[in-house]
Amino acid sequence: MLVVIVFAFLVMGVVSQVSAVGTGREEKPSAPTFYKDVVPILQNKCQSCHRVGEAAPMPLVTYEQTRPWAGKIAAAVEMRMMPPWFADSRYGHFANDPSLSEQQIATIAAWAKDGAPAGDAHDAPAPRIWSEGWNIPQPDLVVKMPKPV
Ligand code: HEC
Repeated sequence: MLVVIVFAFLVMGVVSQVSAVGTGREEKPSAPTFYKDVVPILQNKCQSCHRVGEAAPMPLVTYEQTRPWAGKIAAAVEMRMMPPWFADSRYGHFANDPSLSEQQIATIAAWAKDGAPAGDAHDAPAPRIWSEGWNIPQPDLVVKMPKPV
């Protein structure tokens, strides 16, 4: 009888250990991943320049392209170097201001710190389709220089 009781306690101990491990795992999906959390930011705020044929030196479209840059991306957004935006926010807000929110910066920083995990490709939004050339809304007014410069 005693053996059975001791055994029962052992089993309970193991079960509680396993469930503790289980809880640890459950927290993981909330850690940011490339496909779920980072791609949407890149599509909206970075790929206008960081895609093949545009001004920025490297495309940030696929995981393979982005992964080696994770550390530099985190540094660039934390320093607010990227996306580049030189308008002074004290003098109004521009409709095409690409600046990241605090939340977006925190997401990228946490993702890079966590080893830049890919996550599940099924979580990714559809790739963004870009048109050539002008990619911000049509201007209300186009002013030409009196003399070409
Ligand atoms: C308006 C165009 C533009 C946008 C938008 C833009 N970048 Fe860049 N980015 C550049 C250019 C041009 C360079 C290369 C020159 C430089 O380093 O300033 C660059 C360089 C970088 C670098 C390399 C910095 C280094 O240390 O060498 C990183 C990382 C980067 N961008 C990340 C991003 C991320 C992340 C976003 C979006 C949140 C973004 N960029 C949005 C134009 C852009």
